[in-house]
Amino acid sequence: DLVVSWMRELGLTVTVDRIGNVLGARAGAAALPPVIIGSHIDTVRTGGKYDGNYGVLAGLEVIERLAEAGVVTRHPVAVGFFTNEEGARFAPDMLGSAVHQGELALDLALATAGIDGPTVGAELTRIGYAGETPVGGAVRAAAFLELHVEQGPVLEREGQEIGAVTGVQGISWTELTLHGVSNHAGTTPMSMRTDAGYVAAEISCFVRRLTRELGGAQVATVGHQVFAPNLVNVIPNRVVMTLDLRNTDEQILQQAERQTFAFVEQIAASEGVRVEQRTLARFAPVAFSPEMVARVEAAARAQGRSVRRMPSGAGHDAQMFAPHCPTGMIFVPSAGGISHNVREYTAPAQLVAGANVLLEVVQQVARVD
Ligand code: GLV
Ligand code: MN
Ligand code: MN
Repeated sequence: DLVVSWMRELGLTVTVDRIGNVLGARAGAAALPPVIIGSHIDTVRTGGKYDGNYGVLAGLEVIERLAEAGVVTRHPVAVGFFTNEEGARFAPDMLGSAVHQGELALDLALATAGIDGPTVGAELTRIGYAGETPVGGAVRAAAFLELHVEQGPVLEREGQEIGAVTGVQGISWTELTLHGVSNHAGTTPMSMRTDAGYVAAEISCFVRRLTRELGGAQVATVGHQVFAPNLVNVIPNRVVMTLDLRNTDEQILQQAERQTFAFVEQIAASEGVRVEQRTLARFAPVAFSPEMVARVEAAARAQGRSVRRMPSGAGHDAQMFAPHCPTGMIFVPSAGGISHNVREYTAPAQLVAGANVLLEVVQQVARVD
């Protein structure tokens, strides 16, 4: 509501679409598709205040600057925030931007249940953001730009001020439910156990070993693991756990998936544990438009900023737009490479530097004649 009020204060035309994405548009001189500056304002429960918000607020700052300077662009310029980028409560991540760009069906997205029960659709209605604007495939953008904190250590470590983002690595999220048999921790011989907790532990260790074997860009995380009945003297009869596998190389990511799922089957069978497997999200690596990467790089240099090209380790709304319009992303450093943590921090001067690169690239693509 607060961001929408700021959009209205800037005189933007605000629309809310059927998946709750909000766009605030400033008219252009011609009836052309908009240049969209977008990101998200949702957060993981333990997240910091920059992830997503920075790109949205910088977008409003760009609009304010254009208005103050009386700049007329040929294309409309819209600032958007997209529903459920994080995916921690409702999987998959980038859900709103995926529906916006026709990558995910609206009905499926609305019916997605959260980890606490309610569906996306019910929650949008509850908060008053089940909008009327049609969505999905038909919504075209002339270009998409997203400014974001890096959320990793590379820029800071290398003393670089700006990242010209070349693309986003592939993401594979899986939920495993392991079914064992509860029994007494003291009386059940080790050879007679069907221990879902043991199998979960082996899987966690396996994916860590796999990253060492595959090397390079392969990362793996078990971020969620819940035991039942979760008691000191009871062998767990159920574990729900998640796997997050990522790689910039689709072939190696597929290999990581194959090896992991084969191990899951083998270790579960050896313990007599039954496995249910559910895909939460699967995105192939995405490359951004070379033209946009070059624009970001050139704008940073022209403003006297040091800049390097780099892939993104995190998922972003921009990756949903990349197949459909020229798309670019700008990174600024994250202190200590910390993100998805309330300690996330980027200094004000670094935030301003990124916003100035955004301002320049927006003016180029929205065409100031
Ligand atoms: C989402 O932002 C992710 O990269 O996990
Ligand atoms: Mn983000
Ligand atoms: Mn995030």
